[in-house]
Amino acid sequence: MKKIIAITRGDGCGPEVVNEGIKILKIVSELTDYDFEFRDAPAGGEVWKKYGTNLPEKSFDIIKKSDVLLFGALGLPNLPPGVAESAILKIRQDLDLYINLRPVKLYNVLREICPLKDEFIGDGIDITFVRENTEGLYKNIGKLEKDSAENLMLYTRKGCERIIKFAFEFAKRKGHNKVTSVDKANILKPSQLWRQIFHEISENYANIETEDIYIDSFCQWLIRAPYKFQTVATGNMFGDIISDEGAFLIGSLGMGSSGNIHPGKVSMYEPIHGSAPDIAGKGIANPIGTILSVKLMFEESFNSSEIGNEIDNAVEAALQEGRTVDIESKSLKTLSTVKMGDLIANKLKSRLKA
Ligand code: NAI
Ligand code: MG
Repeated sequence: MKKIIAITRGDGCGPEVVNEGIKILKIVSELTDYDFEFRDAPAGGEVWKKYGTNLPEKSFDIIKKSDVLLFGALGLPNLPPGVAESAILKIRQDLDLYINLRPVKLYNVLREICPLKDEFIGDGIDITFVRENTEGLYKNIGKLEKDSAENLMLYTRKGCERIIKFAFEFAKRKGHNKVTSVDKANILKPSQLWRQIFHEISENYANIETEDIYIDSFCQWLIRAPYKFQTVATGNMFGDIISDEGAFLIGSLGMGSSGNIHPGKVSMYEPIHGSAPDIAGKGIANPIGTILSVKLMFEESFNSSEIGNEIDNAVEAALQEGRTVDIESKSLKTLSTVKMGDLIANKLKSRLKA
């Protein structure tokens, strides 16, 4: 099975973590039927400094002609906000990557690192946020004037239907028995449309329970009883915020993974963290967010939950032996980015050989 994978390393710690993701892909191609061709598609702040654009046409062309994109992070502290990062929005919009999938799973071995008390962790945390990724406030329709500014929060029926359908299909595939919808229907008209469509679509999934929670209330339930949630569907801005809150529960921002997906088309997999200028170049960034994004790539774009599971198990096994500094444990070795990647790669190797 040949797949073309575009690679955007980006800025700061992006290249460091992406290299570890590639390491995992190479193990898979060595030991299974997969065959990967990697094509570099540079983008971001460093590229902007050289060429005056954060996403050269040549790079975008490579991305469009690939099966998937593995992406690091963009942003440089000495550039104005957005100069590097706007390339991400362009990719999401132009490729119509309407699903932002963000799983948040607390490994048992990291329970002690979770900022919540044990009683609040309960049976454990395993939530997948399904965030609409192309509409709402982030469509960036608006204006900034001297004394006022506005953004249009536009939700369309098409936009709501396709993301909510995906959320139910995802829940069904994962054997989840509940889908939670997060909105602000007591105030916002777009949320009222969202809620109506959520219930229309839920009619087709008799075996899946539904619940509606207002965004403000959800924020406290997420830290008070995260074990209650499985699939959580929401709009663009709410999804951005609550999925970051969720990532905080699993130990470190460096553990959070994501997919920007359009089923059947080129999709983009990236850790949820940014370029981390404070630690970039030190070789200490946690590569697990990127490696778990590769796991998502197998599950969502290559239709292989088996390999996804193997990667997941390899990460969990590695976490019992060593950790990067952001999740370090006194009783275990503290590892560099590369050594953490090596450890996970070795665990994966023995699992795939078995
Ligand atoms: P950030 O995610 O880069 O860093 C926040 C904190 O988390 C820092 O203390 C950092 O050291 C830590 N951290 C991040 N990734 C880590 C990892 N893999 N291992 C261990 N620790 C990690 O967010 P920040 O500082 O707000 O933004 C820095 C730059 O990144 C900005 O230019 C921002 O616009 C950009 N950014 C880019 C994103 C992307 O490319 N998708 C997403 C978020 C921010
Ligand atoms: Mg965010």
